[in-house]
Amino acid sequence: MALVFVGFMGAGKSSALDDVLDTDKLVEDQLEMPIASFFAAYGERKFRRREEPIVLRALRSGAPAIALGGGSVLSPTVREALREHTVVWLDVSDETAWARAAGEERPLAADREAFEALHAERRPLYASIADAFLPEGDRLVRRARPALEALAQAPSGTKLVWAVAGGSEYPVFVGRGLIGGLPRPGRRAFVVTDSNVGPTHGARLRDTHRTITIPAGEEHKTLAVAERVWRELAAEGMGRDDHLVALGGVVTDLAGFVAATYQRGIAVVHVPTTLLAMVDAAIGGKTGVDLPEAKNYVGAYHQPAAVVADVDMLATLPSEELAAGYAEVVKTALIAGGELWERVRRGGAPDDAVVVGCLRTKLAVVAQDERDEDRRQVLNLGHTVAHALQSATGYRRYRHGEAVGLGLLAALRLSGTDSLRAQVRELLDGAGLPTTLDADVDPEAVVAATRLDKKRVGGRVPFVLVRSPGDVVFGQRVAPDDVLAAVAELAHPRESS
Ligand SMILES: NC(=O)c1ccc[n+]([C@@H]2O[C@H](COP(=O)([O-])OP(=O)(O)OC[C@H]3O[C@@H](n4cnc5c(N)ncnc54)[C@H](O)[C@@H]3O)[C@@H](O)[C@H]2O)c1
Repeated sequence: MALVFVGFMGAGKSSALDDVLDTDKLVEDQLEMPIASFFAAYGERKFRRREEPIVLRALRSGAPAIALGGGSVLSPTVREALREHTVVWLDVSDETAWARAAGEERPLAADREAFEALHAERRPLYASIADAFLPEGDRLVRRARPALEALAQAPSGTKLVWAVAGGSEYPVFVGRGLIGGLPRPGRRAFVVTDSNVGPTHGARLRDTHRTITIPAGEEHKTLAVAERVWRELAAEGMGRDDHLVALGGVVTDLAGFVAATYQRGIAVVHVPTTLLAMVDAAIGGKTGVDLPEAKNYVGAYHQPAAVVADVDMLATLPSEELAAGYAEVVKTALIAGGELWERVRRGGAPDDAVVVGCLRTKLAVVAQDERDEDRRQVLNLGHTVAHALQSATGYRRYRHGEAVGLGLLAALRLSGTDSLRAQVRELLDGAGLPTTLDADVDPEAVVAATRLDKKRVGGRVPFVLVRSPGDVVFGQRVAPDDVLAAVAELAHPRESS
């Protein structure tokens, strides 16, 4: 089994590792001329016919690492042969690909527009065959190699997404049956879990030193509980050469915060057990606790050492919690647009591919802006009203995801995208999520609570609005009366929407 690098021209496949076997070179040797010359003389079809057997032979050669030409995966026979291997997609931007490929005698890199159109056409193909998704980055594949080798040993169907944020990078594994073989960034594993997840799944973790169980539920995401965990870790002699394992949903926020602060920062492996945490909370490095005054008011950015999303764990998740996670799936699909939105829009339970699509979307945003100073704010879509709603109702009435669903409807009303709002409402409804406010929730109190939002600037909270799926804008000024009307409409929905 080899690591096989696929991706567009200029993705860096042939230089990914020192020991990589480059099939383009093998093809040129065989053709006894540069690929560009063969293309010019005989055309692409003849080229693909000559290329295919050479690629197939390389895949059978026993080489540990192989780089494929960008178009060789167009062959169904090659794609079939790739099933035996670990397929690593080096996902390069148009800019980088063009900068590297143009002027290099590449037959398909003569015209930039056509080059980008071809890239857009190929991306879904690369995505569909990839086991690992790697962004571009200097010598990144070398650093990711241990994780790629771990992926090769993982249960079949496991995917790896390489996350880059600020100065950190880490593997995110998504699959089934993964909980028994977690990465170990430190000597001893100290587990933090909650009173529901611990008894159900805790025993499946192997080789752990100590487990600290906190009470389940958002109302325990507090400084008092964080202090209890700090002190238990200190009493147990946990050091900086050990690591935390956060097993749960809310737990990833709280234990992430503990990891960010205990001895000024220790490694944490997140093992999300809810859909919401798999697609959102466990990735991206935001950690924190709530204050009675407002949600997530005390916290830190602390990227995990690894994330392991074992989708099997969702089997025991209560259906209302699965539904709550679905609201974040819909939010993420609205941000992503394209194929992910199309998939989610069709309805049905989110599968592993949707989980991977959501977390790739979030990680791509975080890679551009770890600290919420710019583009990351799009991830707050629906959250301004959601956080206010949770805080106005004392965190006991609505789950985070339920509040996000309602917040999405308010944001879509403010966006003036009525038919999209109706579609989202139908999706949320179909998942059993609330689409109207309980009668005793006062819209004025919710709007008042938005004024405590951490993201307010000059006394006003900027909103994230949606022009269309995939076209989401942040930092939008919205008149207070319009916010009140959008929240009030949740209490008294119009007939048509
Ligand atoms: N840090 C971030 O970027 C980020 C992003 C989104 C949300 N969040 C935070 O995530 C939190 C919500 O997390 P959540 O929805 O995962 O809630 P949660 O952890 O409270 O889980 C919901 C309930 O399900 C139980 N449970 C969890 N996994 C289970 C399983 N596999 N089987 C059986 N029971 C299980 C829990 O004990 C709990 O009772 C909120 O605090 C929110 O602010 C953070």
